[in-house]
Amino acid sequence: MQSSEVRSKFLKFFENRGHKIIPSASLVPENDPSVLFNTAGMQPLVPYLLGQEHPMGKRIADVQKCVRTGDLDDIGDNRHFSFFEMMGNWSLGDYFKKEAIEWSHEFLTKKDEGLGLDASRLYVTIFEGDENAQFDQESKDIWMSLGIREDRIYALPASDNWWSPGDNGPCGPCSEMFYDMKGDIGDLNKEDFLKAIKNEDVIEIWNDVFMEFEKKDGKVIGKLKQKNVDTGAGLERITAVMQGKKTAYDTDIFSGILGKIKEFSKQSNLKAERIIADHIRASVFMIADGVLPSNTDRGYVLRRLIRRAVRYSDILGFEHGELFGVVEAVVEKYKDTYSELTENAVIIKKEIEKEENKFRETLKHGLKEFEKGVDPFVLATTYGFPIELTLELAKEKGIEIDLEKFKEKMTEHQKLSHTASAGMFKGGLANHNEKTIKLHTAHHLLLAGLQTVVDKNIKQRGSNITEERLRMDFLSDRKLTDEEKLKVEDWVNDKIKQGLNVVRREMSKEEAEKIGAEMEFGAKYPEIVSLYFIEDANGNPISKEFCGGPHVSNTKELGQFKIQKEEAVAQGIRRIKAVLL
Ligand code: ALA
Repeated sequence: MQSSEVRSKFLKFFENRGHKIIPSASLVPENDPSVLFNTAGMQPLVPYLLGQEHPMGKRIADVQKCVRTGDLDDIGDNRHFSFFEMMGNWSLGDYFKKEAIEWSHEFLTKKDEGLGLDASRLYVTIFEGDENAQFDQESKDIWMSLGIREDRIYALPASDNWWSPGDNGPCGPCSEMFYDMKGDIGDLNKEDFLKAIKNEDVIEIWNDVFMEFEKKDGKVIGKLKQKNVDTGAGLERITAVMQGKKTAYDTDIFSGILGKIKEFSKQSNLKAERIIADHIRASVFMIADGVLPSNTDRGYVLRRLIRRAVRYSDILGFEHGELFGVVEAVVEKYKDTYSELTENAVIIKKEIEKEENKFRETLKHGLKEFEKGVDPFVLATTYGFPIELTLELAKEKGIEIDLEKFKEKMTEHQKLSHTASAGMFKGGLANHNEKTIKLHTAHHLLLAGLQTVVDKNIKQRGSNITEERLRMDFLSDRKLTDEEKLKVEDWVNDKIKQGLNVVRREMSKEEAEKIGAEMEFGAKYPEIVSLYFIEDANGNPISKEFCGGPHVSNTKELGQFKIQKEEAVAQGIRRIKAVLL
C-alpha cells in the first residue's frame, strides 16, 4: 500500500465515524512564541483541547505536518526524521477511551476499510498509575474485549505512557500500539518486549492519548473542563509497516528522492544519502510555510538543515547545483497532497540556492581560519562551520579536538543567546496571556491600517507575537515612507480610541471568502472557520480575518500603538515590528 493510500484511508475511516477532516496547519505555530515548529498534531488544536469550541465540531481528523529537530545527529538511522506527517483523530470533549481504542484497533486490523494488519502481531502499552492518576484498568479492559491477550498488554510508567507537549497545557495517560516487524516474534515478557523495541523488532505505530489533565510548570495540576482524545499515528512508520520495511527510507515516500540522490552520487554512503533526503524534504516544507534561512530561531534550524545537506552532498560528490534535483524530487512526491509546494516552488529553489552559495563562501573563509588553527567554537558560531566538518578536517590533519569543551561552550552560548532560548526547544504552548492577546488584536488593526492607508492589496505572509511585540510579514516590494508609517500608526490609534467591538463569528469557508475576510497567504483552512471582526459603531467591519483568537473584546483595552521597525526580510516581503505602550 502506497503512502498516499494510507493517508486517504485514515481520513476516510474517521470521516465515516462522524469526524470532520481539516487541512494540516502550517509548520509554523500561529502566535505561539514558545515553540519553533508544530511538533505534534495536537499543537495547533490546543485552544480547543482546553475548551474553546472548534468551528468544525467535536470530532476532527487530519494529517498534520510536523518538525522535530531535537538531535540532528540521530537523523540517518531508521526512525528519526526532522519532518514527518502525523495522522490523528480528535475528540474535543466528545468520545473517550472506548471509541478511541476500538477505532484504533479496527483501523489497524480491518480489511478494506482499514489497513488489514495482523491482530496477532500487535502489542499494546497502558499507563501503570502514579500520584496523578490511577492504573488505567479501563483501557486494559477495552483492549482485552477486542481480543488482545492480557500478556500482550504492558503497564508502563509516566515516562513512557503519559503524554504532554511540554511543561504546560493539556496532557494525560496514553496507550500505545506496537507491531511485530518480523512476523514470528510471538509472546514476550515485559523485559523482552522493551528489548524488542530497542532492537526495532517491534515498532510503535500509534498513540492514543486520553487528555483529561492539565500541566503547569511541569506539574499536573488537575483535570481539564472536558475529556479529550488526541491520537498520533506517524505516516512514515505506518507506511513502512504496510510495505514490510524496517524504515520509511525504503518505502515509496523516499524512493524518488533517494533515487535522485543516488543518481548524483559518485559513491554510496547510506547515512549521507538519508541525511540529504531528510534535510531537503524538511527544508522544502519549511520554506513553503514561510521560513527563511537566518541566524535566529526557526531560520537557524532551516539554515543548519540546508548546510548539512550541502555538506553531505559534497561528501557524495554532487556537482554544484545538483541539490536542486533533490528539491524537485521532493516537490514532485508531495505536490498532489500539499499544493503549497508547487505554489512556492520558485521561492523554495531560490532560497536553497542562496543558502548553498552563502555556505560555500563561509566554507572558504572558515577553511582559511581552520588552517590558522582557530577554536572549533569560533568556527561554529562565527563561520557557521558544522562541528562534524571541523572534526573531519581535524581528523584528516591529525589534529585533536576537545569535543567536551566545545559542547560546554556551545551550551553556554545558547544560554546567553537571546534569540533561541533553551526553553523554546523544549516545546510549550500558546502564550495566551493578556499582553499577547492585546498584541494579537493590534495585529489585526495593523493589517487593516496598512490596507487603508498604504495599499489595499497588501497581504499578510506570516506573523509572530511575543509578550513584548508583534511582528507581521507582508507581501510588498517597497519600503514604507516615514509619512506612511506615521499615518498607519495614527489610523490604528484612532481605532483604539474609538473603543470598537471585537466579535468572533463562525461561518463556512466559502461565505468567509465571499465577504472578503483576510486569510494568510498560503495557509489552509477547514470548511467551517472562525472569523474575528472589528466593528465600528454602526456594526460595519473595519477588519475581518480568518482567526482562531483569542482577542480582547474592545479595542479600547489596547493602549498606545507604535511601529518600531519596518524592514525587508526577503525580496518582495517586508516586516513590521510594533509594540503597545
Ligand atoms: N500527541 C500524541 C503524540 O504525539 C498523540 O504522540
